[in-house]
Amino acid sequence: MVEAVEQIRAALRQQFLSDRLLGVTSLPVSIPPPAHRGRRGAPPRAVDAAANAERLRVLDETQVRGCRKCGLCETRTQTVFGQGNPAARLVFVGEAPGFDEDKQGLAFVGPAGQLLTRMIIAMGLSREEVYICNVVKCRPPENRTPLADEILSCSPYLREQLSVIQPELIVALGAPAAKTLLNTTQSIGKLRGQFHEFYLSGVTGDGPSIPVLPTYHPAYLLRSPEEKGKSWADLQMAMARLGLMPPQRDSGVSLGKA
Ligand code: URA
Ligand code: SF4
Repeated sequence: MVEAVEQIRAALRQQFLSDRLLGVTSLPVSIPPPAHRGRRGAPPRAVDAAANAERLRVLDETQVRGCRKCGLCETRTQTVFGQGNPAARLVFVGEAPGFDEDKQGLAFVGPAGQLLTRMIIAMGLSREEVYICNVVKCRPPENRTPLADEILSCSPYLREQLSVIQPELIVALGAPAAKTLLNTTQSIGKLRGQFHEFYLSGVTGDGPSIPVLPTYHPAYLLRSPEEKGKSWADLQMAMARLGLMPPQRDSGVSLGKA
């Protein structure tokens, strides 16, 4: 009993901390029941995490690591494939590796990555439970935005990663990720806060799709902290879609995810 109360206290402390970090001013009032695994209307999908991990490993080792399909291969230290749970329900897609990512070979490990980690924890999840990757796998010089032809060359790898993982939801971090996944030129300000669809075929309207929720990139939130509240509202939409329960301040009974 004492232990349970302590656990609840710790979870609430964590939530208050996360709320403060993200500039939260309100919490959702209703959370729908947990969603079934798989696309809406489809029966729950059997997920073979080991098989997914193997397919991702082969893609990385046989295609991405040695890739020279665009000019970014000239300036990278190494490719950054992405990492996390190969059977994740939720995938975060960013723009491109930055300085720290290029050095370490891991996605979102620099300052923006640290904010992303706090966002994931605020959702009641951990980095190990989700999958994190980028639209392009090599760092653009001076962290410039990837060019259209670089995105075109690299996005088949992202599409393959998403086809393997088949998450229930993709959160697109920032304009390049949202525009690439949704094949649109609309601004992130217009796209965020609503669910869209990513078509695995690459052709809008053709074949199976995965919901995409665009939100601001954590690097933008570091520069514009006044926008964190909007991103937190987006993440709460993502949680509701996945049936994840945030710790509730009033009852203190619901901890972590469903
Ligand atoms: N910004 C991104 O978009 N991706 C990373 O991996 C790091 C910073
Ligand atoms: Fe290949 Fe993508 Fe790197 Fe370009 S950015 S070299 S397409 S892995």
